[in-house]
Amino acid sequence: MRGLKKAFILALCVTAVLGLGGCSSIKSEKRIVRISHAQSETHPEHLGLLKFKEYVEENLGDKYEVQIFPNEILGSAQKAIELTQTGAIDFVVAGTANLETFADIYEVFSMPYLFTSEKAYHEVMGDTDYMNQVYASTDEAGFRVLTWYNAGTRSFYAKKPIHTPEDLKGLKIRVQQSPASVNMVKAFGAAASPMSFGEVYTAIQQGVIDGAENNELALTNNKHGEVAKYYSYNKHQMVPDMLIGNLKFLNGLSSEEREVFEQAALLSTEVEMEEWDKQVEEAKDIAQNQMGVEFIDVDVQAFKDKVSNVQQDMLDDNPDIQELYDHIQKINEKYAKEEE
Ligand code: GCU
Repeated sequence: MRGLKKAFILALCVTAVLGLGGCSSIKSEKRIVRISHAQSETHPEHLGLLKFKEYVEENLGDKYEVQIFPNEILGSAQKAIELTQTGAIDFVVAGTANLETFADIYEVFSMPYLFTSEKAYHEVMGDTDYMNQVYASTDEAGFRVLTWYNAGTRSFYAKKPIHTPEDLKGLKIRVQQSPASVNMVKAFGAAASPMSFGEVYTAIQQGVIDGAENNELALTNNKHGEVAKYYSYNKHQMVPDMLIGNLKFLNGLSSEEREVFEQAALLSTEVEMEEWDKQVEEAKDIAQNQMGVEFIDVDVQAFKDKVSNVQQDMLDDNPDIQELYDHIQKINEKYAKEEE
């Protein structure tokens, strides 16, 4: 599989180097638009991307054909972002944790307990005008976010039950390849092991790590529930996924075409979010009743207390996140008041 992946990526790069219009096909008149993502073909993101494809081809089908590559076929998120940066592929879906090394502002999403409600999270992310300022932060790196996808709430899951933060002590927990996530897991008292998403199943199975942290779909769609039987609802993060496009490609579109791609992106988010809500409920049912995963309700406040300094430490270390952080706090407060 690895060899195959490498050969495919090499072929993409050779095409790019030869100046054959990035990845455009030689035979076809149409420009092939390639999108990479890390999930399976039934995942909400894949279904959202099918909508993206449908809308682009309905409106610009004489010029563009959209091809979607799931399951990290083109490489892990980090690799696929690099391919998008160079224009070897055109789009990639990746979590903000993977963007931290390109623009400091994305660190904010790795803060534990940043959003105090799902409503606040959705309002912040759904405010396209505000978020577009954030999305422009990677222009220098050669790519730009077009839209976000809901990736739920992340919690710990492991081979052993975790009831309190003390149970994390001594456990080796996989995190995304993000310095802020490493620090967060350390603050919880566990050892952090950064690795790509595709490696997690085998690492848990072979005992290289004791567990990981993610949303419920990781248990079913990515089958982690086969090897980790305890999922604890400590709910430490809501980390969005992003649809990222090569900036040269986006800037090379006419304004009408750009509008179509942007509209396609927004529609893909609508589909993804509807599917997300459905699939999370299904995932809980499948994990519990078919895979034998035990869901554990914990005292979330105890987990919050354990990492209470992390937000301020991150703000002190990285002033670039302050403005977005303050903006998020205002929205948090708005929903907190509504609930009073
Ligand atoms: C989620 C998220 C992915 C991310 C993955 C991970 O599945 O949707 O974008 O890559 O978690 O933990 O690596």
